[in-house]
Amino acid sequence: MNVDDVDSITVLGAGNMGHGIAEVAALAGYDVVLRDIEDEFVQQGYDKIEWSLNKLAEKDRLSQEDADAALARVSTAVDLAEAVADADVVIEAVPEKMAIKKEVYTELEEHAPDHAVFATNTSSLSITELSEVTARPERFCGMHFFNPPVRMDLVEVISGAHTADETLDLVEDLAESMGKTPVRVRKDSPGFIVNRILVPLMNEAAWIVHAGDATMAEVDSTTKYDMGLPMGSFELADYVGIDVGYHVLEYMHEVLGDAYEPCPLLSEKVEAGDLGQKTGRGFYDYEDGEGAEVP
Ligand code: 3HC
Repeated sequence: MNVDDVDSITVLGAGNMGHGIAEVAALAGYDVVLRDIEDEFVQQGYDKIEWSLNKLAEKDRLSQEDADAALARVSTAVDLAEAVADADVVIEAVPEKMAIKKEVYTELEEHAPDHAVFATNTSSLSITELSEVTARPERFCGMHFFNPPVRMDLVEVISGAHTADETLDLVEDLAESMGKTPVRVRKDSPGFIVNRILVPLMNEAAWIVHAGDATMAEVDSTTKYDMGLPMGSFELADYVGIDVGYHVLEYMHEVLGDAYEPCPLLSEKVEAGDLGQKTGRGFYDYEDGEGAEVP
């Protein structure tokens, strides 16, 4: 199969990343099925796609006609068998837990067409280990988008130990067809390239504040204004979800060692359910005004 044979893409998981990936695929002209485990979750994802497309049109980044056409290419499903019945490519963006992803792939293998390629949007987990619960490890790779997918150009295309070159070529072509710049990651190591750099940066920022060496505002000012990153470290952690960064760190800590030990400031936020913008509160408070610092 090559990219011209891809008509239908199923995205599993309608959260922050899943809905954004579905949006990008629909904008590229693919028929997209967005699937989550409950009607409520899938509807929320669909509503976010609609909001985002309308916002892009409002900002003249695309025409309202193209926004409406993209939305019309998105359908939703809860039943997995129905969601993947016609899929040429399945992009999985379910929570960043090995056990959950393995469960999803075991069920997916039962229902997906034989020719379908599986691409995981995992932020850090082993592509090889995930691929081994399927009967198609050669047609399995990482396809790691960045948040928000509709605005971020980069896609990491990650090879597992069993991934065929044809699969990597296809997924790179697919990313290009979505207007993205794919970077091939040959080594399946925790966090791949971007998160191996970015997540420890967020963790170190938290350790500095935890030690009382600087305040959150001071750290964010340096990263955002002096280092030239688009967001401060804490602002970015809130934006991607503190739980997402924390789970990546936990995995890097387990596999790569103590240098990646998560700062307690992160685990405290995760335990309290203060996960960032998506819950209205993280390192900053999004309910009482724009990004006010939480004491
Ligand atoms: N769709 C459409 N519009 C969106 C949007 C979306 N998904 N998200 C935000 N917008 C809108 C905003 O509502 C705002 O509209 P408003 O002015 O009417 O309120 C507008 O876009 C802002 O756009 P601008 O271009 O003016 O703003 P910025 O220049 O600040 O760009 C940004 C926004 C692209 C998000 C920028 O802040 C940025 O690049 N941030 C860093 C993001 C980043 O680093 N992502 C990677 C994280 S790591 C990751 O994802 C990996 C994972 O595995 C952990």
